Amino acid sequence: MKAKYPLKEIFDAIPASYDAMNRLMTLGMDQWWRRRAARICLEKRPASVMDLCCGTGDLAILLAVTAGYDLSVTGLDFSGAMLEVAVKKSSLKKTGPIRFVTGDAASLPFPDETFGAVAIAFAFRNLTFRNSRRDPAIREILRVLKPGGRLVIVESSQPANRLIRFFFRRYLAFTVGFLGGLLSGDRGAYRYLAYSAAHFHTPEELRIMLLEAGFQTVSFRRLFFGAAAIHLAVK
Ligand SMILES: C[S@@+](CC[C@H](N)C(=O)[O-])C[C@H]1O[C@@H](n2cnc3c(N)ncnc32)[C@H](O)[C@@H]1O
Repeated sequence: MKAKYPLKEIFDAIPASYDAMNRLMTLGMDQWWRRRAARICLEKRPASVMDLCCGTGDLAILLAVTAGYDLSVTGLDFSGAMLEVAVKKSSLKKTGPIRFVTGDAASLPFPDETFGAVAIAFAFRNLTFRNSRRDPAIREILRVLKPGGRLVIVESSQPANRLIRFFFRRYLAFTVGFLGGLLSGDRGAYRYLAYSAAHFHTPEELRIMLLEAGFQTVSFRRLFFGAAAIHLAVK
């Protein structure tokens, strides 16, 4: 099954329902997982980080509030509708300045070696699942990372246990595919999100993909029985 519409149209259509669906899809654990990803991202105290495909800005905001030192935070997304929500949320949380930029992951508007770390939450799947622009997007991440810089990916994953995987896929089909479509009024968008999550790569496959792309080391840890995972790739 292919996405019915281009990805940008999907995300332009759902900013109002997106955060609520995220909480529902992850049983409220998504913010906790983002927080863990933010901590891993900041471990080496990079001076500048990018939240790639930042959507409504949750990870960018967490990076800004947890850093505790002078950190430059940039959020990039190609959906103006998602970025509008991000800008509003960050001003409400009084995070200090986060630079939100409209742009495409496959052609990043930044010079080489700009960021000490790049973090991406629940969007690496969009960049790599049956996406013909997967390779340019990964090349761009490598290009804008400083040598030794970190790419931290928090993403839905595939439980290794077959029984858990079976229930996980049923849960996705119901909550995301069915409920998401019903509540947002956009069935196509949420069917795509449920389908891509249910059929996304395993952490081992993702590790090989990143090593082949040129990262020096890649490790991962599974979250909540493997329903999600955090990957750390070092340039
Ligand atoms: C599932 S949402 C994740 C949003 C956010 N990172 C989060 O933690 O909730 C995926 C986001 O990726 C963005 N996106 C997908 N492909 C993109 C691309 N090629 N360039 C820039 N943004 C992209 C979408 O607009 C959307 O906001």
